[in-house]
Amino acid sequence: MRPFVHVNCAMSADGKIAGEDRRQVRISSEEDMARVMGLRRDLDAILVGVGTVIADDPRLTVKGLDYDSNPVRIVLDPDGRTPDSARVLDEAAPTIMVTSASCEREWDCEETIRSSRPGSRIDLAEVLEELCEEIGIESVLVEGGGETIASFFREGLVDRYTVFVGGLLIGGRRAPTPAGGDGWIAESGIRLRLKGAEALGNGAVLTFEPEG
Ligand SMILES: NC(=O)c1ccc[n+]([C@@H]2O[C@H](COP(=O)([O-])OP(=O)(O)OC[C@H]3O[C@@H](n4cnc5c(N)ncnc54)[C@H](OP(=O)(O)O)[C@@H]3O)[C@@H](O)[C@H]2O)c1
Repeated sequence: MRPFVHVNCAMSADGKIAGEDRRQVRISSEEDMARVMGLRRDLDAILVGVGTVIADDPRLTVKGLDYDSNPVRIVLDPDGRTPDSARVLDEAAPTIMVTSASCEREWDCEETIRSSRPGSRIDLAEVLEELCEEIGIESVLVEGGGETIASFFREGLVDRYTVFVGGLLIGGRRAPTPAGGDGWIAESGIRLRLKGAEALGNGAVLTFEPEG
């Protein structure tokens, strides 16, 4: 058994999720921010990669919710790069750090999960199973960044993908995109089925589910 996995991100009208220097850019409209807060409230956990923690230092909480009501925060960090001062480790919500078998780093957080797969790649299917069966997490919102989103798609672990396309151009050959990393995400790509399209402020949210 694994949790339901919902991937959500915001991209510019030229398909970028941040600037070329990886600096965060406000892409979401007010209406989209409210939608994302609703998703965070509805799902059991929010997951990001360490690249997002380092670039954006997000808090990953819902305004007004306390430690016990906020979703659990999960960070994929195979080499232990998350600084102790990261906001994701504050007292506002429980945090689970997910790291590799070879990483000996400890954090002051609710729990640290070490993947049993040798090397620095984390076995996401195994981690999801542990989150569900041992901690009771039944739904996960993957908020990015591009490398992390691509990892979930590569391993066939995405149930729903929503992307807000904002009225903004960012540019930059090396600016991150929703599915980052080297090479094709899969041979000939991954086909998605469009389930919905809705205008939301100065942009639109598209909902997809993987085909098959
Ligand atoms: N617009 C949006 O919605 C949005 C949302 C979030 C982030 N962002 C932007 O995205 C950028 C960051 O994205 P990013 O792609 O550089 O970083 P990221 O996806 O946040 O983090 C990537 C890192 O996470 C770890 N990781 C991910 N999947 C893994 C796996 N299966 N096994 C082991 N480790 C795994 C790796 O860490 P190691 O490097 O240590 O191996 C990897 O390099 C920032 O510029 C941020 O502003 C935009």
